[in-house]
Amino acid sequence: MRIDLTNQKILVTGASRGIGRAIAEQLAAAGAQVGVHYFRNADTAQHVAENIRRGAITFQADLSKPVEVIQLFENVVAKFGRLDGIVNNAGIAVSADVEGDDIAFTDSWSKTMLVNLHATGLLCKKAITHFIEHGGGRVINIASRAAFRGDTGEYLAYAASKGGIVALTRSIARSFGKQGVKAFTVAPGFTRTDMAEDFIKKYGEDYVKSDIALTSLTKPEDIAPTVAFLASGYADHATGSTISINAGSYMY
Ligand SMILES: NC(=O)c1ccc[n+]([C@@H]2O[C@H](COP(=O)([O-])OP(=O)(O)OC[C@H]3O[C@@H](n4cnc5c(N)ncnc54)[C@H](OP(=O)(O)O)[C@@H]3O)[C@@H](O)[C@H]2O)c1
Repeated sequence: MRIDLTNQKILVTGASRGIGRAIAEQLAAAGAQVGVHYFRNADTAQHVAENIRRGAITFQADLSKPVEVIQLFENVVAKFGRLDGIVNNAGIAVSADVEGDDIAFTDSWSKTMLVNLHATGLLCKKAITHFIEHGGGRVINIASRAAFRGDTGEYLAYAASKGGIVALTRSIARSFGKQGVKAFTVAPGFTRTDMAEDFIKKYGEDYVKSDIALTSLTKPEDIAPTVAFLASGYADHATGSTISINAGSYMY
């Protein structure tokens, strides 16, 4: 079996850093033309696109703004002509203390939902109609172990947003498979990125390591090959399923 994504055009959100960057690199290494979406880190996104080559192009959008989400999808299709896959990876983890201020809690909840869930839902809507018109395509949504195991008390919104992504992905798989749309969830556990650093600072690396079955913490490069496999079509009959990559820290 050889994973060959030549002729595939795939958008990866949040590809400037962390897991998204590793996914963009892996997809391009398998031959895909990648849309490298970023929010604030234009330079690093440009660096990623130049490094992976194969016609990769950067696209900027603040996913907390629905207008920019729609524009992002339309810009990518305008540049690439068509899309074969989308990896909804961009996400934020904003902590909020349940004993803290109600307005601050609401603000962090709203921001989290806008970026993690609303933007993903809207990009899925755009992708579904585009894929149906163009003979099919694949949606790969990056959720989290938190959707299944739950998270710590200050990340309630984060866990809830990721639970929403799982339900969204399964609904797409059930509803649009006959029209050629396949949908998968990838649920990473703790993965060494900027997002994870805050947690490490607070709880310590030993705490995180004690949680996993393996000896080393998961890196973005441990997530990316699974995404390339799902994008390849070899796993199409697993549509609707979730692949957990959490170093054996939670099995379900
Ligand atoms: N790291 C973990 O332990 C872990 C565990 C489970 C699941 N995940 C999930 O995996 C995905 C990637 O996480 P990561 O750890 O790689 O995150 P990260 O290193 O913090 O990178 C976040 C990415 O999202 C983009 N982004 C942030 N806010 C945005 C906004 N408002 N609009 C558009 N893009 C925005 C960033 O773009 P810029 O850099 O351009 O600003 C960046 O590319 C997320 O969905 C996360 O929830 C991570």
